[in-house]
Amino acid sequence: MKDNATFAAAEVAARLLAWYGRCGRDLPWRQTRDPYRIWLSEVMLQQTGVATVIPYYERFLQRFADVNELAAATVDEVIELWAGLGYYSRARNLHAAACQLVAEPGGRFPSDLQELMALPGIGRSTAGAILSIAFDKKAPILDGNVRRVLIRLYAVDEPPRAASVEKFLWQRAEELTSAERPHDYAQAIMDLGATVCTPRNPDCQVCPLVSLCQANHLGLAGELPRRQPRKAVPLVRQVALLLERNGEFLVRKRPLQGMLAGLWEFPSREVTDGQPASAAAAELLAELVLSGRLYELGQVGHAYSHFRLEVAVFQVAVTDHLAVGQVAEGQPSLWLPTIDLAELALHGAHKKVWALLASPN
Ligand code: ADE
Repeated sequence: MKDNATFAAAEVAARLLAWYGRCGRDLPWRQTRDPYRIWLSEVMLQQTGVATVIPYYERFLQRFADVNELAAATVDEVIELWAGLGYYSRARNLHAAACQLVAEPGGRFPSDLQELMALPGIGRSTAGAILSIAFDKKAPILDGNVRRVLIRLYAVDEPPRAASVEKFLWQRAEELTSAERPHDYAQAIMDLGATVCTPRNPDCQVCPLVSLCQANHLGLAGELPRRQPRKAVPLVRQVALLLERNGEFLVRKRPLQGMLAGLWEFPSREVTDGQPASAAAAELLAELVLSGRLYELGQVGHAYSHFRLEVAVFQVAVTDHLAVGQVAEGQPSLWLPTIDLAELALHGAHKKVWALLASPN
């Protein structure tokens, strides 16, 4: 780590701000200073890219225009608007934080780092982004984009998540943040990471920091950040059934606690070690007290943060109509026509399951 960089922090900020004036993006959350809207955008952007976030952000605000409306909703309604964005704990935390905020006497939005970080779902970087963007307070940010810019600027040639690297980067982020224009500085450095200092093929020729960038001097810009040594992620195998009866498909709602809580899915279960997927599918059909011929449509894969899911998908034309009333006791379930399925809050893996029906692999 090159702590002996010869440039002044003020020079970095000045170049970033001038570049942002020319090249900054016009994004929906940049037309407001409303902390509720900035908070929402930052939470959505924590694990999701700008292009995906924009329609979700706009739909969310149409439904919940302020923190009071969000707090008055059920967590189920919030999850439904989140369906497809992934990392659903973000939606649950957002709702829980809104409930805490409206319960406070005075009901003002916190503008203090510790108070913000005490809210569910707000870590140090998100708190920094809210403080700088909504309140124009000097507060460092270290999200994925900023991290990459700094790792290259200082040629950090070490595993990027090492504790020593983390400490070093927060110190640099603090030093570089503009005291005069924290709002613009935050947007500028995030935009540089998103549009110029990109993970692959950084466009160094147009970068305002190129002559200061240590990775560029060393010919390492394309190679840094180094890959974090990966932990092996376990594979979970599942079967899912697209059960069709009179043009309708069976879906059920996941329990309100636990992973993907409150979202909808097709009946599914895990495949045990060594078991053929077709045997697991037949067992599931029997558990549902339904019958019909199983036709294997194909497979879909989905990556979660701590495991990978592989789903073998079977289509079944249900022949035993008498038993339909016994389906999926204890978990709300419905037979829905295709037109309603398009509107349903299916979780991401089962959106892929559904897409397989249109184009089997
Ligand atoms: N990523 C995280 N926050 C962002 C913001 N405010 N603008 C663009 N990208 C971002």
